[in-house]
Amino acid sequence: MTPPHETDMKGVVLAGGLGTRLQPLTLALSKQLLPIYDKPLVYYPITNLILAGIREICIISSPEHLPLYKKLLGDGASWGLSFTYIEQPKPAGIAQAMLLTEDWLAGSRSILALGDNILYSPGLTGLLRTAVTSTAGAVCFAYPVRDARAFGVIEFDEDGRPISLEEKPERPKSNMAVTGLYIYDATAAERARGLSPSDRGELEITELNRSYLRDGQLEVVQLPRGSTWLDTGTLEGMVTATEWVRAVEQQQGFKVGCPEEAAWRNGWINSEALSALGKRLRSGYGEYLCDIAKDAQ
Ligand code: DAU
Repeated sequence: MTPPHETDMKGVVLAGGLGTRLQPLTLALSKQLLPIYDKPLVYYPITNLILAGIREICIISSPEHLPLYKKLLGDGASWGLSFTYIEQPKPAGIAQAMLLTEDWLAGSRSILALGDNILYSPGLTGLLRTAVTSTAGAVCFAYPVRDARAFGVIEFDEDGRPISLEEKPERPKSNMAVTGLYIYDATAAERARGLSPSDRGELEITELNRSYLRDGQLEVVQLPRGSTWLDTGTLEGMVTATEWVRAVEQQQGFKVGCPEEAAWRNGWINSEALSALGKRLRSGYGEYLCDIAKDAQ
C-alpha cells in the first residue's frame, strides 16, 4: 500500500524552450535555471510536486541544457526521491511532454508542471493532495488574471462547470487563466498523439485539455483567493517573482519553493540528512536548512 504523503503518480517538469524573451540571459543558460531570489526557478515547481507527494520526477529539457539539470539535481537520492532525465530535441509544444514520457510513465498517471511557473497558495499541500486523488481524467488549475490574453483561458457555466478552453484568445471569454500544472490519466499520450501542431507549430497543451473537456473528463480547480501564481516568462515577470519571494521570505522567515524542506516535511529525509544538505551550501539557504533541522530536534 502507498504510505500517506505519497502517491504512485509520477511527476514531469518541463524545463526546455528557448527563453527567447529573456535573451541575452538565456543565450548560455536555461531559463528555468535562472535565479528567482535565492534559488533556481525550477526549484519552485519541483517543490510543489514534492508537496503533492510525488517521489518519481522526470525533468525534460533540451539536449544542450539537460546536463546542467543533472548537475544541479543529481539522481535525487539525497532528497529522498528519484530524478530521471529526458531530452526534448526541439521545443515542439508542451503536450509533447506526454509523448516523451510515455515509456517512462509506463501506464502511471502523471502531474505535469511547467518549469517556469511559481504557484503558492494557503493550503496548497492539501489542495494538491486532493487533486492527485481525483477520479477525473485530467485536472487543471485556474487563476483569475486581469488580462488573460497571454494564457490558456477557461470559461465556466453558471454552476462552475468548465465549458470552453482557448489558447491565448484575442477576446478571452473569462478572466480565468489555466496555470502550468496539469494532472493526467494514462490516456494522455494517446490523446497527444492525436493532436495536430498549431499554427505556431506546437502540440498545444490546451488542445490536450480540450480533448478531456470534450469527453466530460476535465476537472478544474479554482485556486483560492490569496493564492499567488507567477509566470516568469518575461523579464518583468522574473523581477516581480524575485521581489515577491524576497518579501514573503523576509517577512515570514520561511522559504518558498525549498525542495529539501518539503522532502524533509514529508519524512523522506531525516533531520540529520537535511542538516548535511545545509552544510554543503555555504550560503543563507544552507543556514536555513541547518536551522530548521536543528529547531526540530
Ligand atoms: O504559464 C501557463 C501557460 O503556459 C498556460 O496558460 C498556457 O495555456 C500554456 O500554453 C503555456 O503558455 P506559455 O506561452 O507560457 O507557454 P511557453 O511556450 O512559454 O512554455 C511554457 C514553458 O514550457 C516554458 O518554460 C518553456 C517550456 N517549454 C515550452 C515548449 C513549447 C518546453 O520546455 N518545451 C516546449 O516545447
